[in-house]
Order: sequence, then C-alpha cells, then structure tokens
Amino acid sequence: MKKLRLPILLSGALMLTAGSFFMTSCSKDGNDGKDGTNGTDAIATCKECHNPSVVDRVATEFALSKHNYGEAAAGEAGNTSCGPCHESEGFKYVCKNNVSTVFTFDAVTGKWVNPYATVSSSAFGPLTCFTCHSSLHTTYGYADMSALTTTAAVPMTMWGGAKTINLTQDGGKSHLCVKCHQPRPLTCSAQSDSRLLNYDSIRDNPSIIFWDSTAGFVSKYIKPSYRMHVHYGAVGAVFAGVGGIEFPGSEPFSSSSHATLASCQDCHMAPITGAAGGHSFKAKGNFNGCNVSGCHTTMSTTASLFTDTRAEIKGLLDTLAAHINSVGAGHDILHKDVSVGTDGSYNNLWYGLTSKNYDGYTDIYDASSNPLGYWSLAGSSTLKKFPTLKFVHIGAMINFQFCLREYSLGVHNTQYSRALLTNSIEALKALGY
Ligand code: HEC
Ligand code: HEC
Ligand code: HEC
Ligand code: HEC
Ligand code: HEC
Repeated sequence: MKKLRLPILLSGALMLTAGSFFMTSCSKDGNDGKDGTNGTDAIATCKECHNPSVVDRVATEFALSKHNYGEAAAGEAGNTSCGPCHESEGFKYVCKNNVSTVFTFDAVTGKWVNPYATVSSSAFGPLTCFTCHSSLHTTYGYADMSALTTTAAVPMTMWGGAKTINLTQDGGKSHLCVKCHQPRPLTCSAQSDSRLLNYDSIRDNPSIIFWDSTAGFVSKYIKPSYRMHVHYGAVGAVFAGVGGIEFPGSEPFSSSSHATLASCQDCHMAPITGAAGGHSFKAKGNFNGCNVSGCHTTMSTTASLFTDTRAEIKGLLDTLAAHINSVGAGHDILHKDVSVGTDGSYNNLWYGLTSKNYDGYTDIYDASSNPLGYWSLAGSSTLKKFPTLKFVHIGAMINFQFCLREYSLGVHNTQYSRALLTNSIEALKALGY
C-alpha cells in the first residue's frame, strides 16, 4: 500500500489550507502574541506528529504489522458483514454508530438475523493509522493521536450481545483490539431458524445427537462442513475468560492474572525489540512488556514458566484432538495442514502448535477449500461417510479451535485454556470417546 508522506505538506494548496486554519486558531487564542507568525505556526503544529520520531517512526514499525500487509482487507472489501473487522471504514462505522450485536427475529422469513454489519457505503479501506486513531486531522493537534477510535466495553457478537467483555485495566484500551479480535457467532443451519447455537445446552446435554449421519441431510443445528468454525479472532474472548463451552470437570473456570492486570497493548505494543513490539503489534520474542515492575522479572523464551505453560497446553491440545478423532474410528476428523505457500511460509497459521499440525477445520471434502478431504456427509465410492456427532463432540471441537487459535499456547489466559481443554477431555472420556 502506498502512503503519502509529508513532502505534500509543502505543496502550495495544502500549505494555504493548513496556514489559514491555524491563523484562525491563533487569533482566537488570545493576545500574548508569543505564538509567532502565521504559517510557521501551522508547520510547527503539524510537526508535533510529522517528524522523524513520531509519524515517520511509527509508520515504519507499522510496515511490520499484518494489519498493514495482510490481504484480508482487500479480499473482503465491499462485504458488509466482514467489514466491521476487516475494513477501516466498516470498523469506524460500527464504532461511531454503536451498531447492535443483538439478533432480531424476522417474522416474515421465520429466521433470526444478525445486525452486526456495516453499510455498503462504508465497507472498504485497508487498516491504517486512521482506523484506530479516527480523530486524526480533526483539530490538527497532538491530542488527535491520543483519542482512540473506541475504548468502550465490547458486547460480544458471538453471543448476540448477551455477554460483554469489559477489561478496565489500562483505560479500557484493550477494547480497541477486542472489538475486532473476538469470535464470530455460530448460527444454526438455514434448515432451522438461523438461531445462535446454544452453548449452555451443549454443555448441559453432552450425549444429545448433534449430527445424525443416518438421517439424511437435515440438521436442526449446524450441518458439519470443512469451515465450521468460530472464525479466527479467539484471542479477545480467551483473554477475558469467556466464549468457550464450559463443561463441568476437574478444572475450575477462572482466569489468570493477565485478564485483570495486563492489556493487549502491554504485551503487543511494548517497546520494540527486533521486529516485535510498538506498532508491529507482534508479541513474539519481545519480553519488554512482561518484565516490568509489578509483573515478571526474568521472563524469556527459555524461562520455565513460559516453556512449561506452552508445553502443557500443547499437550492438552494433542490429547483433546485424539479424543475428538476417536469418533472417526481410525481416521482423524480434524483437518491437518503442512502445506507451504508460494512465499515459502506454512499455509497453516497454527503450524507447530499441535504435534500433528491441526488448523481447527474439519476434514470434510470441499471442492474448493478442501479438495483432498477424507469425509463427506453423504459418503461416496471415494469419500467416507462423516460420523454421527454428539453435543460433546461439537463442544469439544469448538473448544479445541478456540484454544488453538488464541495462538499463544496459554500465555493469554492459562487457566481458562487449561480448564476448557481438560474438562473437554473428561467429558469425551465419560461418554467413552
Ligand atoms: C496528531 C498527529 C498529526 C497531526 C497534528 C497532523 N498529522 Fe498529518 N498525518 C498524521 C498521520 C498519523 C498520518 C498518516 C501517516 C501514514 O499513513 O503513514 C498523516 C498523514 C498526512 C498526510 C498524508 C495524506 C493523508 O491524509 O493520509 C498529509 C498531507 C498530512 N498528514 C498533512 C498534515 C498537515 C498539513 C498537518 C498540520 C496542519 C498535519 N498533517 C497534522 C498525523 C498527524
Ligand atoms: C479494525 C479491526 C482490528 C483492530 C482494531 C485490531 N486488529 Fe489486529 N488484526 C485484525 C485483522 C483483520 C487481522 C488480520 C489481517 C489480515 O490477515 O489481513 C489482525 C491481525 C493482528 C495480528 C497478527 C496476527 C497474525 O496472525 O499474524 C496481531 C498480533 C494483532 N492483530 C493484534 C492486535 C492488537 C494488539 C490490537 C489492538 C491494539 C489490534 N490487533 C487491533 C483486525 C484488527
Ligand atoms: C468480529 C470481527 C470479524 C468479522 C466480522 C470477520 N472477521 Fe475475519 N478475521 C478477524 C480477525 C481478528 C482475524 C485475524 C485473527 C488473527 O490472525 O489472529 C481474521 C482473519 C480472517 C482471515 C484470515 C486471514 C489470514 O491471515 O489468513 C480471513 C480469510 C477472514 N478473516 C475472512 C473473513 C470473512 C470472509 C468475513 C465475513 C464473512 C470475516 N472474516 C468477518 C475478525 C473478523
Ligand atoms: C490497530 C490499531 C492501531 C493502528 C492501526 C495504529 N495505531 Fe497508533 N496507537 C494505537 C494504540 C492502541 C496506541 C496507544 C498505545 C499505548 O497506550 O500503549 C497508539 C499510540 C500511538 C502513538 C503514541 C505512542 C508512540 O508510539 O509514539 C503514535 C505516535 C501513534 N500511535 C501513531 C500511529 C501511526 C502513525 C499509525 C499508522 C502508521 C498508527 N498509529 C496506527 C493503535 C493503533
Ligand atoms: C501477557 C502478554 C500478552 C497479552 C496481555 C496479550 N497477548 Fe496476545 N500474544 C502474546 C503471546 C506471547 C503470543 C504468541 C506470540 C507468538 O508465539 O508468535 C500472542 C499472540 C497473539 C496473536 C496471534 C499473533 C500472531 O503474531 O500470529 C494475536 C492476534 C494476539 N495475541 C492478540 C491479542 C489481543 C487482542 C490481546 C488483548 C485482548 C492480547 N493479545 C493480549 C502475549 C500477550
């Protein structure tokens, strides 16, 4: 993406606009005259941001961020339901208009409708400085930078707004991230009334049939498919200790201290080291945010608290995968991916997080997305018929996805991940899986 830089400032037309703007504010400001002459002042104010140590430095850091180089913003441009998180204008629209996440019932179609979307006139734009700092260039003072687009608590779209994430530490700044980094709703099939999948019911009735492989293709709940998922933004929910299917079991559902003491910014925007921190938004290998007064002192890639936690969660993911897969009687139902893209990196964003490299998808044949799939719902001469699933399976699969895709192997919220995984394993075992 090309960005315009300050040289433009020196172009005649803009100088004039900027100059006259600040002339007005100077004369309003009073009569001590210390502020110097017109024009010079304008440039000085612009320079609060437009100088090598502010905008120029941050823009260089931002080049390292997937917010900047990721391709999803271009891919989903124009799509109003993807826009709230993938398009700059879409994000600003849902924040500014406080768009509701509460599902509504349409009596004409007999279906539930998810209102959380932008409008087609605001469904475009890659993520830039103006996405998160939406007041930029309004007063042309440095304060425009400090005003983040949102810091309000986030009513979760996955639950139709029935629960809200409220992380008050650090002035609620985490909410800026969580507004986008949250799971998407799982809605029941169009054969039913598109209502939200009821997590409480799954938790409380583990042996009810979720998908009956002998009953044709009708599903009261969700028709299993390759991409049956809670999307990619698990982090915000896991971090806050909500959003999984909380099967009862030996581990309590509580949260680690991070959920109340740390903000996303503390770890992801800590002073930069190497290519992580600052506006790269990356946490990998940057422990500047961990080793601060009142938190850790010797956290590092080799610290046992770090390596043991990650090894424990990886082990639980592996064990849970094995118990889920046992329903396939000898063949995994969870999808694995070790393929490498044209740029040499793994296509599986979660490569290495489990021993077998699962990606959270289901290994059901799909002509475009999973042409090598092993299963199909109907079965055929070349594809095995997908097995019957109970509530316990779908619950465990959702929890598996959730704990895999929070990506940090438990750093975000060790206790919540540990409880979801451990209790899911116990729930499957209790029913003989
Ligand atoms: C509060 C900080 C701040 C102030 C004050 C500020 N700018 Fe900017 N400006 C930015 C940021 C951030 C960008 C985007 C940089 C990027 O995309 O790399 C930007 C971008 C620009 C651009 C490129 C076009 C665009 O809109 O993206 C121009 C031109 C510009 N600013 C002119 C000015 C002028 C003239 C002033 C003073 C009247 C000014 N700015 C004051 C932060 C500021
Ligand atoms: C407007 C929505 C939005 C906001 C606000 C937002 N993100 Fe993101 N973030 C995304 C999207 C979308 C991607 C993936 C982009 C892509 O793949 O094209 C992403 C990617 C990331 C990644 C890289 C993930 C990877 O797989 O490499 C990190 C880390 C991240 N965001 C952290 C944060 C943090 C921390 C904040 C708050 C300071 C934040 N994000 C705010 C939407 C957002
Ligand atoms: C509630 C916010 C939200 C909505 C709505 C949303 N996404 Fe996303 N999506 C995200 C976030 C956040 C990420 C990046 C997560 C990460 O990398 O950790 C992401 C990642 C992706 C990726 C993966 C990009 C990559 O790096 O490979 C694709 C593809 C994608 N989304 C497509 C869509 C589509 C299509 C829609 C609309 C049907 C949609 N998203 C709606 C938040 C959202
Ligand atoms: C995904 C959201 C997001 C995007 C995109 C973003 N910022 Fe920020 N920015 C933040 C947050 C959050 C803070 C506050 C960090 C804190 O309090 O620790 C911040 C702080 C800043 C600061 C003050 C701290 C510092 O490092 O000097 C500057 C300057 C800044 N941003 C400039 C920019 C510029 C320039 C761009 C575009 C190149 C940009 N931001 C893009 C979220 C964002
Ligand atoms: C205690 C520190 C800490 C806090 C707080 C934290 N994270 Fe993370 N985050 C990490 C670590 C460590 C990783 C794993 C980095 C790696 O291995 O690449 C990570 C990974 C991620 C990823 C995937 C990163 C990638 O590069 O692919 C995203 C997205 C993310 N975090 C978003 C968030 C959001 C949003 C918040 C706030 C709700 C948050 N994180 C709070 C430490 C933290």
